[in-house]
Amino acid sequence: MTPLRQAIAAAAGRLTDAGVASPRADAEELAAHVLGVGRGDLVRHEEIDGEAYTALVEARAARRPLQHLTGVAHFRYVTLEVGTGVFVPRPETEVMVGQMVEAARALPAGALAVDLCSGSGAIALCLATEVPGLVVHAVELDPGAVAWARRNLAGSGVLLHQGDAADALPDLDGTVDLVVSNPPYIPLVAWESVAVEARDHDPAPALWGGGDDGLDVVRAVERTAGRLLRPGGRVAVEHADVQGEAVVEIFARTGRWSQVRGHRDLTDRDRFVTAIRG
Ligand SMILES: C[S@@+](CC[C@H](N)C(=O)[O-])C[C@H]1O[C@@H](n2cnc3c(N)ncnc32)[C@H](O)[C@@H]1O
Repeated sequence: MTPLRQAIAAAAGRLTDAGVASPRADAEELAAHVLGVGRGDLVRHEEIDGEAYTALVEARAARRPLQHLTGVAHFRYVTLEVGTGVFVPRPETEVMVGQMVEAARALPAGALAVDLCSGSGAIALCLATEVPGLVVHAVELDPGAVAWARRNLAGSGVLLHQGDAADALPDLDGTVDLVVSNPPYIPLVAWESVAVEARDHDPAPALWGGGDDGLDVVRAVERTAGRLLRPGGRVAVEHADVQGEAVVEIFARTGRWSQVRGHRDLTDRDRFVTAIRG
């Protein structure tokens, strides 16, 4: 066994040298994972299995995502199982989901919500757990991601569908109250600017599925939301910080939306657009 505080300090140094964005936090998360406790409970421990810890720290230094090493991602009030083959849900999506949770709470029981491009099922699971009585559908194209979503959504009541957001759920046309989506949106030219953890470990359809300008699936989501939503229904779609104006334009130019608005995330970057079906 190795003294815990010394091991964490050494790990934080190792991760700093490796270019990890939050070295101290990751060193503590990995220590908590080895000890089988929450990060807040580390103060109660003095020692750690040095071999097991070093193996994880080295994997993180090689830029494997923290969540792949711990096996879980925390998103709002839920915990998702994640790993190879599924996109790790990101904190920048949480503000958009919070707005849609608030909108859903104002609806009568039995209202319908659809999460397009659901990945691990993170958004759908938040809606279902935070808004009792809401009927939630989740749509995901990639069979690998669907397998993770199936595990995460088991017992949640969310109705999971494998399919393309472009032609999803035609039986629900004109009846849906809320559509929310964090689709793939990174332009192909931005390849070099994407963090190693994402580029090498998030599945390709989750990053590059949006085509050359990154917006192919956003355009499909706009069309599908226009078809699914009842008049007065609300859509929210995430985008890259440089795509705010382009996504507002995708919605505004169709003439079928009112109150097309851009919103910022917790780091004050342009992050998502909402609109109301006219
Ligand atoms: C950026 S990830 C987001 C996943 C999840 N919504 C989240 O926020 O964690 C985008 C997801 O969209 C899926 N996807 C890509 N193209 C799609 C399409 N045409 N229809 C449905 N899902 C699609 C990808 O497989 C990936 O799981």
